[in-house]
Amino acid sequence: MNRLVATLFAGMLATPVIAEADLEAGGKSFDRKCAICHQVINDEGEQLAGKRAQNGPNLYNVFNRPLGSVEGFRYSKLLQAANEQGIVMDEAGFAAYTANPTEWLEEVTGGDGRGNMQRVRLNEEEIANIYAFLVSLAPAEDG
Ligand code: HEC
Repeated sequence: MNRLVATLFAGMLATPVIAEADLEAGGKSFDRKCAICHQVINDEGEQLAGKRAQNGPNLYNVFNRPLGSVEGFRYSKLLQAANEQGIVMDEAGFAAYTANPTEWLEEVTGGDGRGNMQRVRLNEEEIANIYAFLVSLAPAEDG
């Protein structure tokens, strides 16, 4: 096998393994750090993650919809304001939100108040893995 082919082949083998490990780690971190308050249930009612905790809103599709949009959940005024402004959380927002929910919500909405989620201590890896894990449970975006 020449070197180029060997490199390509190694690359093909390596990539899926890394992606899988991240999602798996993300799922574990979700169970440890989020599932006490959150679950992920799709529109068909299938339990994709967590164990029916309802302190926090269902996180299905959460990074692809406006914040504060789970029907029937009693959000803080700050998350209601985020909803009215159609704010969608990206990975940087997710990192900032978990580090300090109230501060981040005040910053992005321009409002003041108190977010109802407490801080969650996450390192960079956990942030990336949990973010990827939740994205992986969301429906594929159709072009
Ligand atoms: C102790 C309970 C608790 C824990 C632990 C917790 N959350 Fe939350 N989370 C909440 C509550 C309550 C809200 C609603 C906050 C509000 O209304 O201001 C919320 C809101 C959110 C939102 C906004 C959802 C929406 O529909 O707008 C996201 C995203 C989120 N949490 C992600 C996470 C992730 C990821 C973790 C784990 C790293 C986590 N949370 C851990 C209680 C928790």
